[in-house]
Formats: sequence, C-alpha cells, structure tokens
Amino acid sequence: MSPTPRAVTIILTGLAFVFGTSGCDKERAAPPAETLDPTAVAQGKVIFRYATFGDETFWTDTLRMHEVIRTAVDPTTALSVGLKVDTDSLPPAVVQGIQNKSISLTSPATTVALLKLNAVVGLRGTVTTVNGRDVLTRVGITCALCHSTVDNSFAAGIGKRLDGWPNHDLNPGAIIALSPALTAAQKAVYNSWGKGKYDARYNFDGQNNPSVIPPAYGLLGMHSVTYTGDGADVAYWNRYVAVTQMHGHGSFVEKRMTPPDDVQNLPDSVSAFLPALQAYQLSLSPPTATAGSFDPAAAKRGQVVFTGAGKCASCHTGALFSDANSRLHAPTEVVSEPEPNGGPSLASRSATKMYRTTPLRGLWQHAPYFHNGVAPTLDAVVELYNTRKSLNLTSTQKADLVQYLKSL
Ligand code: HEC
Ligand code: HEC
Repeated sequence: MSPTPRAVTIILTGLAFVFGTSGCDKERAAPPAETLDPTAVAQGKVIFRYATFGDETFWTDTLRMHEVIRTAVDPTTALSVGLKVDTDSLPPAVVQGIQNKSISLTSPATTVALLKLNAVVGLRGTVTTVNGRDVLTRVGITCALCHSTVDNSFAAGIGKRLDGWPNHDLNPGAIIALSPALTAAQKAVYNSWGKGKYDARYNFDGQNNPSVIPPAYGLLGMHSVTYTGDGADVAYWNRYVAVTQMHGHGSFVEKRMTPPDDVQNLPDSVSAFLPALQAYQLSLSPPTATAGSFDPAAAKRGQVVFTGAGKCASCHTGALFSDANSRLHAPTEVVSEPEPNGGPSLASRSATKMYRTTPLRGLWQHAPYFHNGVAPTLDAVVELYNTRKSLNLTSTQKADLVQYLKSL
C-alpha cells in the first residue's frame, strides 16, 4: 500500500504577489499564481493519508501500541479519543453490519477488522492470520491522524474524509498514554494535553505546553510555516514531524536550536516523499463558510472594523491575511502570551523565538484560536484584542468584526 516515491516538481511561478496595504477597505486579492503538478498532488494525497515512513518501529516495537489496541481498544473507545472511521474504505456488508448492529462496536476485534480494511483515519495496521484468527501485529501513524477528520455523514466520527481539517476531537496525548512502555510521569504529561492539542517539543526539551493542531489547508502562497514561522515551506515541518514526532525513518537537523536538533534515524524513508506531500497540502483550499452561518451585512461592516478601528489588517494583510512572508512578530506583540497556567512560551522553544501572523481563511472551522487555544471562540478572540490592544471598540463593532471573521 506504500506509495512509490518519485521525483516530482512543483512549479512555482509569480511568487511576487502583492500584499494589500493596511487601512483600506479592499476586496480579497486573487490567489497567487502558484501552479501545482497534478501528478504530484495525487501522489501526495496517498502519502498524506497512508504513509507511515516506517514509524511502526516506534509505535509498535517501542510503544507496543498494537498490544493495547488489539486487547483493549474497541471502536467505541477509539471514537471516544477522537479517532475517525472512513466510510469509503468500508465494504457494503460492513456498513450494513454496523447499521443492523450485527458488528459489535464494543469488541476490540472489530477495531482490528477496521484496521485490516485501512478504515481508521491516520492509523495503519498490519493484520496477520494466526490459527485462523486475525491478529494485529504492527501499527503506525500517518499525517491524517492529526490533520484529517470526517464529515460524520454515517454517524458521529464515521464518514467521508476531510483532509487538511485539524482533528480537534483527537486526544493524541491520551492515545500515547495508553502505551505500556511509558513511565507514570510521562503518562501524566501526555494525559494533561487534552483534545486537539499536541506538544511537538516535549520530547526535545521536556517542557509541557501543547499547541492546538492547526489546519493543513489554505497554505498556498504561504512561505512561513508553523505558529513560530520556523520553516520557509510546508516540507520543513513535514520533515520535522515525520522524523522527530511520528518517528519515521529519516533525518532532521535544525542548527538554530540550542543544542541543535539532530535526529538521524536512517535509512531515509521521508525525503523522497516530501515534494509530493507538500504539493498535496498546497492543493487543499480552506473550507468556505456556509450561507446562514454568518450575517453578510454585519460581516461587510465588520470588514471595515478589521481594516480600520480594529487595526487587524496591519498584520493580517493580503489574500492570506498574513504578513508572514515578510516578517514575524515578537512575543510582546501577540495577545496570546503570556501562556496560560504559567506555561513556557512556545516562541522561546522555537527556532525563530517569534510568532507568525496566522493566515485566517477557514477560521470558522477550527476553534479554539491562537497557538495555545486561549480563545475558545471568535468572540473571545475579538474581546482579547480589544482589551490587550486597548482598541475601545463598541459592542456593535465587536459583533460585526466577529461576523466578518466567521465569513473568511
Ligand atoms: C500528532 C499530531 C500531528 C501529526 C501526526 C502531524 N502533525 Fe502537523 N502539526 C501538528 C501540530 C501540533 C502543529 C503545530 C506545530 C507548531 O506550529 O509549532 C502542526 C503543524 C503542521 C503544519 C503547519 C501549518 C501552518 O499553518 O504552518 C502543517 C502544514 C502540518 N502540520 C502538516 C503535517 C503533515 C503533512 C504531517 C505528516 C508528515 C503532519 N503534519 C503530522 C500536529 C501533527
Ligand atoms: C501585531 C500584529 C497583529 C495584529 C495587529 C493582529 N494580529 Fe491577529 N495574529 C497575529 C499573530 C502573530 C497571531 C498568532 C498568535 C498565536 O498563534 O498565538 C495572530 C492570530 C490571530 C488569530 C488566531 C488564528 C488561529 O487560527 O488560531 C485570529 C483569529 C486573529 N489573529 C485575528 C485578529 C484580529 C481580529 C485582529 C484585529 C482586532 C488581529 N488579529 C490583529 C498578529 C496580529
């Protein structure tokens, strides 16, 4: 099932797209002329959904997750920690069996059967038949685990894949904490993260302050990735996470960190996949807000607040609503610091020590907001800016601004 790595080219043209100037009431500019190779996009989709980069050596041999899954994780438990089931991978008989309840959702054997069908989003299992019985022998994870969800069209947690949508029902820490190979202290850290959050530095610096899983869509034209703008392209993070977090086989070196990040887990099964993987992500558009989910007249007034009294467009500029291609911002400029509960600053743990202005399209889809999730709603975002930046917005201006943010 592993996709074949092949040299793929992303043709980047016309990178010099124009940023809007702040303070004027402008329409959204056309997307930058950046052309993606359709073959690479198609390969990247398979990689995004199914490639483990050989990370089974960690999730199976080190964490022994296969033992836990096959004995203790029935589908109901799996859904409760936010794992999703892809109905397109289910044969009609299985769909029917779930519907008429002849297939048990409270038996771990059903989870193994779903893994055999490759139907659990972001989890890859190897199932071997031993004495006529299906046994889960290997398990690994893919990018889709954190950055895909489903449309719930069959039932809650069961439906068609929505690639690039962050899975904010997923509790990655609680899942990792199921491993029998961890100490009680490590389990306590993992269990403290909660839904939709993951600390991608904990295994380097031992500090604990998880980040909200961001979308992997809407990044075409963005040449600054992660909350702290650590990389110039999506492939930077993809290499980081594939090697250092998923524990796939490859290498990652970041000399800006003290001490430098230097992970060598060879032979390299990551590099060859990166161009196509990046092309697929850049092809993912942010989901548009549905009619009726916001008030268009209020949103139009809110746009005036965004560029005017709210001063939002001084940083959230241009088609991507971000100035990140030209500058980053110091922690003192962001309203999301200091971190909640006295946690360590994410910027301080990054390569840049700064924050990137987050692109804002598809905002309605992915609450909570800011790297640490300090704002549970868009109302809370606006309230926070109003207070911290002393904007003195009226309640009508604030309400209109929220409607505008919901429309992006
Ligand atoms: C365990 C959960 C998890 C997995 C698995 C994971 N990511 Fe992420 N991803 C995150 C988190 C958390 C961040 C935020 C990191 C930061 O900004 O400091 C992130 C950041 C990103 C970003 C940056 C988004 C932006 O706005 O700059 C992209 C793109 C992305 N991930 C794609 C991927 C791809 C592709 C893979 C597979 C190679 C992957 N991720 C695997 C959790 C995950
Ligand atoms: C000084 C530059 C600057 C200004 C001015 C600014 N922002 Fe931001 N904005 C940022 C940065 C940097 C981040 C990322 C901070 C983080 O993740 O903690 C951000 C994050 C956000 C987010 C969170 C997005 C997400 O996906 O989590 C929203 C929403 C937002 N800003 C809206 C606004 C609004 C509305 C205004 C005006 C009231 C505004 N911003 C003004 C720089 C700015």
